[in-house]
Amino acid sequence: MTLKGKRILLGITGGIAAYKVAVLARALGKAGCDVRVAMTEAAMRFVTPVTLQALTGQTVWTDLWDPRIADNMSHIELSRDRDLILVAPASADFLAKMALGLADDLLSTLVLARRCGLMVAPAMNVEMWDNPATQRNLRTLREDGIAFAGPAAGDQACGETGMGRMLEPELILAEVEAWFQPKVLAGKRVLVTAGPTEEAIDPVRVITNSSSGKMGYAVARAAHEAGASVTLISGPVALATPQGVARVNVRSARQMFNEVKAAVEGSDIFIGVAAVADWRIQKPADKKIKKINDRLPVLKFEENPDILAWVAARKNAPFCVGFAAESEKVAANARAKRAKKGVPLIVANLVQEALGADDNAITLFEARSSKVLGRGPKIELARKLVAHVAGMIEKAKR
Ligand code: C5P
Repeated sequence: MTLKGKRILLGITGGIAAYKVAVLARALGKAGCDVRVAMTEAAMRFVTPVTLQALTGQTVWTDLWDPRIADNMSHIELSRDRDLILVAPASADFLAKMALGLADDLLSTLVLARRCGLMVAPAMNVEMWDNPATQRNLRTLREDGIAFAGPAAGDQACGETGMGRMLEPELILAEVEAWFQPKVLAGKRVLVTAGPTEEAIDPVRVITNSSSGKMGYAVARAAHEAGASVTLISGPVALATPQGVARVNVRSARQMFNEVKAAVEGSDIFIGVAAVADWRIQKPADKKIKKINDRLPVLKFEENPDILAWVAARKNAPFCVGFAAESEKVAANARAKRAKKGVPLIVANLVQEALGADDNAITLFEARSSKVLGRGPKIELARKLVAHVAGMIEKAKR
């Protein structure tokens, strides 16, 4: 599910991060959302309603007593047709008001009178964030079921460093997308492997598979969005950890195997997306191998453990999903791999098309059927895969 057609009320409160919300408003619009903006008095000190009006193409609302709403019920009407209220930045003061249920201006009244979901993207100075009063308010808001996007830690506009930076607009957008995903894996524990593994030849040289890790990271993110608690065991990649996912870094296949062994107990689902090296060097040199005239090194290999097959063969194995990156005969190879690994589901794609790209085209192979998921961004395919897995688990229960 994308954000197309989603109706958002974007509430802006007074904080310097408000200048970034212009970018957020634009990004939400580009993603297909209908964005209506309400601003507090203080917000207008940082960014003008005209800016937001130009970016969203809609009237920007600032006044509880706005006479343009016929029955003067703006505090109710402006949020009635919304799917989500997103307050960004949410100042310490505004969070405190929400925690107490105060309603003394348009935005706080809209929040209190809402029927839709509410997400906040806090932004404040680190001392304000750490203050026990704020921490108390955050606990209250979490108990009230309010969703949080951030904050992050880092440099602050005031010159200090610490928690309280508003999440960057693209990350807030990702949180909004996540919020809208159906929670088909609520309460489930999911273990994902991703990326390549590296097998040492000597202290500086390795053999590896080319794998960007993008598909595995998309799967981890999609599982988290679906409500699962996710552990991601990752080979070396240049990707940011998806929000809310616990990541364990490894280099070699054997390290990956050990981390999987340590984490698999209690997992409901195992999804092996990693491009695990099939072989490792028998005896890696402990010093860098010197280049000596015409003498070429000879490497002797031994086999790595098949992590997926090991997990699938366990007693009380989690629901196992394997990936098959094939360079030819995708269907035949995927079917054979499914049987050999003893897993209920194999996700297959042509490697030439997927390596390193943001898009992929995949087909799902079960024992007696297959389903083409088609082409699309990896995150969208990952969401479809997660929905399919949830469906298979449901069916198996019946
Ligand atoms: O490499 P292969 O084509 O056999 O990979 C198929 C599936 O098995 C993938 O899901 C991969 O993550 C997993 N695998 C594994 N351990 C290996 C090799 C592959 O978990 N040593």
